[in-house]
Amino acid sequence: MTRFTEAPGAGSGHPAPPGRVAAVVPAAGSGLRLGAGIPKAFVELSGRTMLERAVAGLLASGAVDDVVVVVPADRVAESEALLAPLRSGEHLVVVAVGGPQRTDSVRNGLAALTATLEGSGSPVHDVVLVHDAARCLTPAAPILRVVEAVRSGEGAVVPVLPVVDTVKQVDAAGYVVGTPDRGALRAVQTPQSFAPDVLLAAYDAAGDVATDDAGLVERLGRKVATVEGDPLAFKITTASDHARALEELRDQHGFHALQNPEDTPVTEPVIPRVGIGTDAHQVQPGKKCMMACLHFPDDDGCEGHSDGDVVAHSLVDALLSAAGLGDLGTLVGTGRPEYDDVSGERLLREAVAHLTGQGWTIGNAAVQMVGNRPKMGPRRLEAQDTLSAIIGAPVSVSATTTDGMGFTGRGEGVSAVATALVFRS
Ligand code: CTP
Ligand code: MG
Repeated sequence: MTRFTEAPGAGSGHPAPPGRVAAVVPAAGSGLRLGAGIPKAFVELSGRTMLERAVAGLLASGAVDDVVVVVPADRVAESEALLAPLRSGEHLVVVAVGGPQRTDSVRNGLAALTATLEGSGSPVHDVVLVHDAARCLTPAAPILRVVEAVRSGEGAVVPVLPVVDTVKQVDAAGYVVGTPDRGALRAVQTPQSFAPDVLLAAYDAAGDVATDDAGLVERLGRKVATVEGDPLAFKITTASDHARALEELRDQHGFHALQNPEDTPVTEPVIPRVGIGTDAHQVQPGKKCMMACLHFPDDDGCEGHSDGDVVAHSLVDALLSAAGLGDLGTLVGTGRPEYDDVSGERLLREAVAHLTGQGWTIGNAAVQMVGNRPKMGPRRLEAQDTLSAIIGAPVSVSATTTDGMGFTGRGEGVSAVATALVFRS
């Protein structure tokens, strides 16, 4: 470990100038609880793997210089390719192979960091972070806080949040044996930050397993300091955590810029795009009624060489319009027999695939049906769920009549108007 230096403030009283900051990113878990069928760090969130997002987030914080990721043995080549764009003259990005437990993976990462440094003659590190790839939405602020705390002389620092639930300690049979004072409890996140000698000593002394790195430092009897964590540093463990992460990405205006410094200047906001679509069809007595991709068995459908689903069709137009990709006619052309009787669902799926293929992500959409029948109110939530599932983003559905006026008021036809919002993936 000769190429690590002491943290400023440690030792002789002559603080060294700040060195570099390294981060070990364990990403070798199998992600059983997420259940995606592939190792968790390689699951995508809006077009980028959790691994890429975790590493890009560390580097974009400006506080981290070099990164060692620790991945399953059969994912090394893939990781090298994914992370190549983040590697530069400024940043070392090293890929190491993980072990059966997280502790083994971090230990392997530390060994790879030492080996790389010894081989390269690179500058020394005075702070080493350990950061779960599964906390891939961690913003810059807690990263800066943990680095700063070690630079101020702490040997080990963890980001924490207050515990909101009352916590019980239970015995093996599940009976409560104690209720710790909640005010003194904290939930612990990563990145955890260490003076290199402290972390290496903790791992040298460690047994097989520890759930967090600071826990090993505590076992040595060393002090572990806390700084404020961040709700966005939550760990993606289950499918609902993954869904929450997707929502966060959608909600955060400008997040793309923060997470993709290499392709979007941080100072330039990412402007989403809106679109509009309308459609109208004549009611055709006796035709099967499809509306919002639902079957209404008691109503007449709309004529047209498709299934006459004006709600779905207006949504397709709104999506294509938002992305600047034309309209339904551009997508499927006219007079193509393979689209005779085509369902609204298929058209929507084709539109979404077209948008995704052109690098667009759908933020949300809204559609209003105008007409007397079918009655959308009782099935409005079902329609929303169905359309949201098809386009992979929230869709709001509403309906109105026109008080007896016009073709919709006389029951001769049904129309719909839709809007959509998209942004660059
Ligand atoms: N990890 C690792 N090596 C292991 C186990 C876990 O590098 N042998 C990493 C994971 O990839 C993750 C972090 O440690 O980034 C936290 O672990 P966890 O959230 O438990 O992830 P998994 O072990 O992948 O998930 P699960 O426990 O549901 O299988
Ligand atoms: Mg695990």
